[in-house]
Amino acid sequence: MFYYIRNDKDGLNEAYEFIKTLKNDYEDLAIFQPSACALGCDRLAEYESKLGVKTYYLFKDDEACKAYLEDENEFFKKIILKYQELLQEHKHIFVMNFNAFGVIDALLVNLQISKHLNLNVLTNSTTISQYAQKINIKTQSLSEYKNLKESNFLTPIAFKIKLENLAKKDIKTIVLPEGDDDRILLAASKLLESKAVKLIILGNNQEIAKKASELDINLDDIRTINPGNSQYDEEFANALYEARKAKGLELQKAKELIKDRNYFGTMLVHLGYADAMVSGAACTTADTIRPALQIVKTKPNVSSVSGGFFMCLEDRVLYFADCAVTPNPSPENLAQIAKISADTAQNFGFKANVAMLSYSSANSGSGPSVDATKQACELAKAIDGLNVDGPMQFDCAVDLKTAKSKMPDSKVAANANVFIFPDLNAANICYKAVQRCANAVAIGPILQGLNKPINDLSRGCLVEDIINTCLISAIQAQ
Ligand code: ACO
Repeated sequence: MFYYIRNDKDGLNEAYEFIKTLKNDYEDLAIFQPSACALGCDRLAEYESKLGVKTYYLFKDDEACKAYLEDENEFFKKIILKYQELLQEHKHIFVMNFNAFGVIDALLVNLQISKHLNLNVLTNSTTISQYAQKINIKTQSLSEYKNLKESNFLTPIAFKIKLENLAKKDIKTIVLPEGDDDRILLAASKLLESKAVKLIILGNNQEIAKKASELDINLDDIRTINPGNSQYDEEFANALYEARKAKGLELQKAKELIKDRNYFGTMLVHLGYADAMVSGAACTTADTIRPALQIVKTKPNVSSVSGGFFMCLEDRVLYFADCAVTPNPSPENLAQIAKISADTAQNFGFKANVAMLSYSSANSGSGPSVDATKQACELAKAIDGLNVDGPMQFDCAVDLKTAKSKMPDSKVAANANVFIFPDLNAANICYKAVQRCANAVAIGPILQGLNKPINDLSRGCLVEDIINTCLISAIQAQ
């Protein structure tokens, strides 16, 4: 519904009257106040007894402030999950601000919560409206509650919860070949807890169990397979030989290759024993994805595999490609990367507006790479249903003022959310720059165009990155 933020002074009467109005307008209305002090609890009890609405809170008294200081992300995550749970139980949830929050400014935290829940903010206070604008939140007055403007916030925490919810819709099995890496085992134990995916870990069973006990995690329910010493070795070697003999692979070499954990993991996916593979915490990108390029191959009508990243900024998510695979894409490759990236973004719930990036917007600059992007853009525009434009500079793609002056007729300029870079250099440098300097969470690379999901990790990956990539892979496999 929306997030209601009230003034302290006359706020209590205002809140009471407002809830009374809402109660008449909305069937099965409930109130959610993320945190309530003792006085707040009395108020909620009053709304229940006098107005007959159900009320809920999550934290009481100082708990909220303590939880926020201990782990901000976990604090917001709990609030989002509680809100989602309430949405299952009631038709309408009216979220209300709280004031008591230790010594910290409760207003800012309330505004942040409105972003995490993607709710419009209603308030009659001019001061609160002015303050909200400083963090890009446009507020409306209480009387406008029936005419809410579109709200489009997606925070990194909300996006990760969305991934987990999507993965749980149809549970898939992911292979993790790097069972000797602590980060993989830690991620596996968290994924097991979440019940969002099933896992197969490659490596020696006893060594994995020993490491799990050292790390104080429970991996008892995980299936492990040891390449080179498994029931599948012969079947996989024969299948690999059959798939690659035309390329000169001999049976003996296939038997050796199967001992390589990335080849073995890829065969598990290729032959349907698992749905996806996530590797690369210890191996290079080339070693991780080469078996997939050779065996799993590309989808029909896709000539080139590419890799994209969801770039989770403070309150929105963008998609960058190709940041991982093709060093020097041709215009045909770029047009295909544009189409397949739009499809990936759409599969994860975004309406794709694709910008073909360059150092030139429309006809402002010239040069061979601008010409290549122009050509790629013409090819992409011919693809049915693809909302694409370019060449354009990054500022023109995201900023209304620049877009109006440089490409006033473009529907994509200022509204882009999928960004296609002219080559691997530009894309890879740019995603890392945004990740490191704009404090964005980069989720990927998501390999697109393969027949089955095989995804690569960076060697500097964190446990959280492995979890995200496994969830993404599970969703791709659905
Ligand atoms: N799409 C589809 N198939 C491909 C692609 C592609 N983009 N590239 C290669 N292939 C296929 C080939 O057709 C070939 O198939 P075949 O043997 O059946 O004929 C097979 O893959 C092997 O091809 P090679 O040319 O031998 O490829 P190679 O293994 O040398 O390299 C690779 C392919 C690994 C993708 C290479 O292009 C590469 O290293 N790219 C850059 C990766 C990288 O370093 N990225 C940056 C870091 S990642 C990060 O920061 C997130």
